[in-house]
Amino acid sequence: MERFEDRTVVITGGNKGIGYALAERFVSEGARVVIASVDADVKEAAARLGGSDRARGVHCDVTDKSQVEALYTLACDAFGKVDISVQNAGIITIARVEDLTEAEWDATLAVNTKGVFLCCQEAVRRMRAQGSGGRLINTASGQARDGFIYTPHYAASKFGVMGLTQSLAKEVALDGITVNAICPGIIQTDMWDYNDRVWGKMLGDYGPGELMQAWVQNIPMKRAGRGSDVAGLVAFLASDDAAYITGQTINVDGGLIMS
Ligand SMILES: NC(=O)c1ccc[n+]([C@@H]2O[C@H](COP(=O)([O-])OP(=O)(O)OC[C@H]3O[C@@H](n4cnc5c(N)ncnc54)[C@H](O)[C@@H]3O)[C@@H](O)[C@H]2O)c1
Repeated sequence: MERFEDRTVVITGGNKGIGYALAERFVSEGARVVIASVDADVKEAAARLGGSDRARGVHCDVTDKSQVEALYTLACDAFGKVDISVQNAGIITIARVEDLTEAEWDATLAVNTKGVFLCCQEAVRRMRAQGSGGRLINTASGQARDGFIYTPHYAASKFGVMGLTQSLAKEVALDGITVNAICPGIIQTDMWDYNDRVWGKMLGDYGPGELMQAWVQNIPMKRAGRGSDVAGLVAFLASDDAAYITGQTINVDGGLIMS
């Protein structure tokens, strides 16, 4: 019997980057997945994961409560229930404090923090009604441990994820629902390509890839992470083996941050 056979997993931001790697891992271990994204290719990404009996792709903006409700309704209609929900969708921009716009602040908090809350809220509603427990896993960041330069809005949004994770974990513990957060470090995705380009220009005259190479030297394991590194942690937290772990925030970063 595979670890996630008969489990349904919702993954926001599941069409690319870390989220797609999570979806691949869950499908490979027997789960049915529903991936959600604002990107146009979300249905194609789902088709790459498997047939419609295995994976569905849903266009959903996690900042919009009615779209989030529709996402979980679709998951339940397609696969009968939701057992695991991974709040992974996120955005970042990088700007000096005087240049950071109010719109950037609002959008970042809306996607990274409110979006996580809205999905947790809807997942809890379904899981409580199902009565068989569940797993919520929220993507924070190394920036929930240690705010980096030029990203106060992103750091605030990810510290917020850690706080809401702890509060919800206490509220739903007796329902058999665990709530945990993860802090990826430097993971090779489109988001990190943007970071490399923009931070690289602002912090020095770094060419493409050079800032990442420099920062990787601070990682004890001396390599950037892959989506599959994050998937190993998320699959563990979603599994029966993690039944007694809740309200925790766990780094997955090759040892970059040890607090
Ligand atoms: N890449 C890293 O080094 C790194 C490090 C720490 C944390 N993270 C976090 O991991 C998560 C995934 O990052 P990634 O590197 O794979 O990024 P990515 O840019 O490759 O993917 C981001 C995903 O979020 C989705 N998304 C954005 N806005 C959305 C919205 N309003 N509604 C629904 N979906 C939306 C996008 O469609 C995309 O699928 C993010 O929360 C990010 O903050 C990434």
